[in-house]
This record gives sequence, C-alpha cells and structure tokens, in this order.
Amino acid sequence: MPRSAWIIGNTDGIGRALTRRLLSRGWGVTGISRSESKLTDTGYEHHVTDVTATGYPALLARLIERGLPELVVYCAGIGEELNLEDMHLEPRTFEVNLLGMVRTAAAVIPPMVARGSGHFIGLSSLADVLALPDATAYCASKAGFSNYLAGLARATRKTGVAVTCVRFGFVDTKMAKGTVRPLMLPVERAVDHLEGCIRRRPARHTAPRLMIPLVQLTRFATWLGIGG
Ligand SMILES: NC(=O)c1ccc[n+]([C@@H]2O[C@H](COP(=O)([O-])OP(=O)(O)OC[C@H]3O[C@@H](n4cnc5c(N)ncnc54)[C@H](OP(=O)(O)O)[C@@H]3O)[C@@H](O)[C@H]2O)c1
Repeated sequence: MPRSAWIIGNTDGIGRALTRRLLSRGWGVTGISRSESKLTDTGYEHHVTDVTATGYPALLARLIERGLPELVVYCAGIGEELNLEDMHLEPRTFEVNLLGMVRTAAAVIPPMVARGSGHFIGLSSLADVLALPDATAYCASKAGFSNYLAGLARATRKTGVAVTCVRFGFVDTKMAKGTVRPLMLPVERAVDHLEGCIRRRPARHTAPRLMIPLVQLTRFATWLGIGG
C-alpha cells in the first residue's frame, strides 16, 4: 500500500512542491485548494475548496469516510499588508491561517487518535514571535497557530499521533514578497526540511536556524521602539 497524505493549500508554493516530492516518492496524495491543480499524476486527487467555506469540514468528513491518511500537512496561508484605511482583510488572515488549520485538526486528529497513528504538520512562521506593524494579522495568526500546535503536540504525545509545528523564515514563493528577505530558503530546501519532519516527527522545527538571532534582534528593536 502506498503511504497517503493530504496537503491543504497546494496549488502553489511550498504545498505544491511538497505534493510533487511525495508523489515522486510513491505516496498517494490528496490536495485541497481554492484553485484547480495542474497535477496529473495517477497517485493524485484534487478538491477545490476554500478552507473558510462552511462546507470545508463536511468535505473533510467525506474524505475521512473513504480513508484516513497517515499524514496531513496544513500549508494554506495568506499574508496581507496592514492598511489602516481599510482593515477588512484582517479577519480573513485569521480565518485562513489559524481557523482553517484548527478546523482541519478538529476533523482529522480525533480519528487519528482513535486509530492510534497519524501525523499532523502545520506550517507556521518565525514571525510567530514578532509584532510587525505592516503584518499585524499575519504575525498574530501565526502566534496563535504555533501556540495551538504546541499544546496539541503535548495533548497527543501518548496516543501514537504526532503533531509538528514548522517555523520557516523566508521561503522563495510568491508569499515572500518583501524586498529584504535574509537567508531565504529555496522551496526545494524547505521541502527537504518537511521530509525530515515527516521522518523524525518533532513537535517543533525551525528553519533556517540562523534566522533565530535575526528574529531576536528584531524583537529587541521593537522593545527599544526602533522601526515603528
Ligand atoms: N514563503 C514564505 O516565506 C513563508 C515563510 C514562513 C511560513 N510560510 C507559511 O507556509 C505556508 C505556505 O506558504 P507559501 O509560501 O507556499 O504560500 P503560497 O505560495 O502563497 O501558497 C499558498 C497556498 O495556500 C492556498 N490557499 C490560500 N488561501 C486558501 C484558502 N482560503 N483555502 C484553501 N487554500 C488556500 C493557495 O492555493 P489557492 O490560491 O489555489 O487556494 C496556495 O496553494 C503558509 O502558511 C505561510 O504562512 C511561508
């Protein structure tokens, strides 16, 4: 039997690269995104849905009835700049980045626990400890994301189910749109890190680790009131 994975948010970026990698390793993959997928691999099945749609949990329930995968990776995410004149996109960032992940976990973790096996990976960010003035909702949604997965990893520790929070710095996708992107990882390198997490199942993985002092410096600058 091929190993099976669901990848949520996979028509672009890290999710798409991970889907391709797992397919090349012989996994069966089910993807979920708002757009159609161009992947035509026989081991691949795609569902067009928005993780904020009311029908999303029902879709997950139908898929679970057909077969619960070993691995679920939540990659869906958006990052919009704060616009103080029009803040209507702020709640949406939380709905996609945080609540979509919680809805996914709420659907798949209980049957994984009942089965006694499974792995849930969520893509967070090193921004989860920052309060950047131009990325307020992104930072706060990732703070909640990482905190939630840290608790969930502890809660599932003795159940056979692993929960992993992956905290990337910059990865070379359309999401990394700023002009300053230190230590940016090529997307294939980010997927190498995810493959390592699939093998080792850590509760938390941060990459690249050299970004940690840079993030700490940014926090210190915020504390001093430098940079807005
Ligand atoms: N790139 C970076 O520098 C970086 C750094 C740290 C963490 N991350 C995190 O890594 C994850 C993936 O980022 P990425 O760089 O690969 O971003 P990306 O290239 O923009 O891809 C995002 C994916 O999420 C899907 N998506 C977005 N909104 C969705 C929704 N409402 N429902 C379903 N799918 C949705 C998109 O597909 P559709 O448009 O078809 O829906 C797309 O496949 C994100 O959570 C991001 O925060 C990225």
